[in-house]
Amino acid sequence: MLVAAFAVLFLRLPRSDHAAAPPLAAPANVTMETMNTDYVLRWDWDQSWGQDVTFTTQYISHSKARNPHRQDQWEELCANLTHHSCDLSGAGLMYEGKYLVRVRAEADGSCSQWASLTFHPDKDARVGPPSRVSLSHADGAVDVHIEDPLSGANTSMRTLLPGLSYHILYWEGPGPPQSSQVQNLSSKATLVTLSGLGRTCYCVAVQTLNRYHPKKSSFTSPICIQTPGALVWWLSVLCFLGSMLGCFLLGFFFYKTSKWLQTVFFPASQLPSHFKEYLCDFPGSDMPRLLTSDAEQRCDKVVVCPRWPPEEQDPPPEAVAASPPGLEADSR
Ligand SMILES: *[C@@H]1O[C@H](CO)[C@@H](O)[C@H](O)[C@H]1NC(C)=O
Ligand SMILES: *[C@@H]1O[C@H](CO)[C@@H](O)[C@H](O)[C@H]1NC(C)=O
Ligand SMILES: *[C@@H]1O[C@H](CO)[C@@H](O)[C@H](O)[C@H]1NC(C)=O
Ligand SMILES: *[C@@H]1O[C@H](CO)[C@@H](O)[C@H](O)[C@H]1NC(C)=O
Repeated sequence: MLVAAFAVLFLRLPRSDHAAAPPLAAPANVTMETMNTDYVLRWDWDQSWGQDVTFTTQYISHSKARNPHRQDQWEELCANLTHHSCDLSGAGLMYEGKYLVRVRAEADGSCSQWASLTFHPDKDARVGPPSRVSLSHADGAVDVHIEDPLSGANTSMRTLLPGLSYHILYWEGPGPPQSSQVQNLSSKATLVTLSGLGRTCYCVAVQTLNRYHPKKSSFTSPICIQTPGALVWWLSVLCFLGSMLGCFLLGFFFYKTSKWLQTVFFPASQLPSHFKEYLCDFPGSDMPRLLTSDAEQRCDKVVVCPRWPPEEQDPPPEAVAASPPGLEADSR
């Protein structure tokens, strides 16, 4: 209480009084914001100290800090900062390493105390959700394709966290999940098949988990897919094949009809011109008259018969006497 009262007293003193100038307060609420291999140190600062304050950040590995000969070998990272954060992502910190990180305020040549923090990425850094999740449907099932979260160098976080696995929630969509109908499963694989699903819309959200040094990411935003269901899948295949057959038959029919029309109206072999002249009614017409003229058709049956009864003509008696019996029958 007494210390607090003194602090308040010093704070209220006019800044111009250099002899009694209060020491700068150290940055407050120092935290490390992390996501995979991105690390940002943040701190709060009471603005009543004035605007001309800058900040410097340093780090050292834990092993060096414990070595009496090397414990002053701090690496300076962000010097003379006017904002309240320092990005350590590019500092090349080892994921398995353990570090001390510290920050102080500086103004008018005086410095605050260091505010420090122990940082062990493998233990402290958060893991991100999968970098990408996509869905595809197979026969009555949904395949969930998961891509590993990525480090800052675009390599899979699995190289740093061998115990990475995924927790998959799925429910009947398309709306938000009702807690009673959410199903879940965990898998280390990046291709997970959700089977035994009905014919409806399913939504999926995935979270990254780590077993050793337990970590849990946020869930990916839900994505949904319409599952066709097994029966309808086969029906649609049948419909497709049926329509293919129908198209083929229709095409064949049109082909045959057009061939027939072509041979009737536009025959490939033309009549020789002298035939045309003969067959056509008048010169210039190209429709041959294949039927013969009416006059030729209208004919009567002509019977040629000998005159009957034959005229009574007495042959000369000598001719009758001379003619043999066979000739007489023939002349009749
Ligand atoms: C530190 O955090 C606490 C709680 O969030 C807050 O009340 C306080 O104002 C912060 N300190 C500064 C210097 O901003
Ligand atoms: C930070 O400020 C100090 C004093 O003003 C100066 O000597 C130093 O070079 C500055 N550092 C950087 C990195 O700007
Ligand atoms: C990682 O990939 C993203 C998108 O593909 C790209 O914008 C970024 O530059 C890549 N980073 C590195 C370090 O290769
Ligand atoms: C996952 O499902 C099991 C039953 O199948 C249930 O006991 C468990 O609480 C569920 N976990 C979550 C996180 O929903």
